[in-house]
Amino acid sequence: MSPECKALPEVSRIASAAGALAITSVLLLAVGLGFPPPADAETTARSTTAPQAARVVIATAPQAAKAATVEAAGVIGTAPAPALADAASVTRGRYLVSISGCNDCHTAGYSETGGRVAQSDWLLGQPVGFRGPWGVSYPANLRLTVQSVTEAEWLKFARVERLPPMPWFALRDMNDDDLRSMYRFIRSLGAKGERMPAPLAPNANVGTPYIQFTPQNLPAVSQAAPVAKQGGRG
Ligand code: HEC
Repeated sequence: MSPECKALPEVSRIASAAGALAITSVLLLAVGLGFPPPADAETTARSTTAPQAARVVIATAPQAAKAATVEAAGVIGTAPAPALADAASVTRGRYLVSISGCNDCHTAGYSETGGRVAQSDWLLGQPVGFRGPWGVSYPANLRLTVQSVTEAEWLKFARVERLPPMPWFALRDMNDDDLRSMYRFIRSLGAKGERMPAPLAPNANVGTPYIQFTPQNLPAVSQAAPVAKQGGRG
């Protein structure tokens, strides 16, 4: 067990009927603030390879097999401890990032493994370009991006139009609270990794691996005028 780990409270297995997520927030806060875990819970925090990462494994009593694993890199490891409202916002940010597909492009190996990438390696960007009529674009290292803008700046920065295939319009349409939560979660992971290459113009030589992202064999109709359905044949 590493020295950082000894400083944390002992690992706990929570055998409580209450909601796992609520417990997680409370636990993370308790650990982050240096308070002992609740008396009715056995808590286990074991260190991962990343020095400041801690992992809290939570299992509802009869279903240990379905244990939810919550990694809390940064939230636990970096001072100052977040305020209560901030911790809830970070938890929501994690949820939003995981369900809205950011890891598909911004995290290496995420889609290939069905999301089995350690949280400490999330959103580091990929040096594999997407090549299309726009040139070549690289999914940015968002862990570094959020370090370079304040939360207020992020609300504008996140909504800027980007090159395909970045779904920038999803961020444009996100409300401020959700954007803030994403920012807080990504920041809580800490800075890590390298910046990704700048985008390339359409005919530039490409020195990195890339994915050809050009539609093939499309029917010769405008996407704005979908083919009319014909007589019930679909
Ligand atoms: C289909 C792939 C894809 C998905 C999914 C995706 N991105 Fe991106 N993202 C990119 C690419 C490619 C770029 C670079 C675009 C450019 O150069 O203009 C980018 C750029 C960005 C940038 C600009 C970063 C900077 O430092 O310039 C932000 C912010 C961002 N993405 C956030 C997100 C978030 C948040 C999500 C999840 C909701 C997400 N992206 C989902 C591909 C993707």
